[in-house]
Amino acid sequence: MATRKHKTDDLDALSILQGDHERVERMFAAYGKTRNKAEKEEKAALVAEVCLELALHAAVEEQVFYPAASRAIGDGELMGEAVVEHGEARHLIHRLVGMDPGDPLYDPTVQVLRAYVHHHVQEEQDKMFPRIRKAKLDLEALGETILDRKGELMTEVEDKGLECLLPPPAHDPDPRPDPSLAALRKV
Ligand SMILES: [Fe+2]
Ligand SMILES: [Fe+2]
Repeated sequence: MATRKHKTDDLDALSILQGDHERVERMFAAYGKTRNKAEKEEKAALVAEVCLELALHAAVEEQVFYPAASRAIGDGELMGEAVVEHGEARHLIHRLVGMDPGDPLYDPTVQVLRAYVHHHVQEEQDKMFPRIRKAKLDLEALGETILDRKGELMTEVEDKGLECLLPPPAHDPDPRPDPSLAALRKV
């Protein structure tokens, strides 16, 4: 009998992604509770954690999940909207990782990112996921691919830093393309 690499009862792609969504919501909530009393270093550490989680989640959705979802439900508008939202969230993440936690715009930027992510997650869970559940997709195999890719991306981040998952800022002459554009081409 074939054995799977990831020994969990919950390999379903949608459950994995929903688990990520819930973890991120909890991280934002934790930040909201401590932001007024936390030291600058503590705030930066919490934000770094949430930014890493979001960047990995967005990358794995674009590289693995969205292309499969797009083939299964064929709704270019819904998928395109999701990719554009990822791009916008990435720009906020990029701004945050380079910002001093003492900056008066730090907390408002976290708040805008939180609201943005909340909206995006609702769209995925309410509009996209139910249609994918009905489509003929092997969600367990897809879940396994998601976990594998996430592991690879994590290794890349450990090696090169979170910047490898983020676009260059607008004024940066770095010619790397915005990673969300590559996903859009696959959609
Ligand atoms: Fe997403
Ligand atoms: Fe998601």
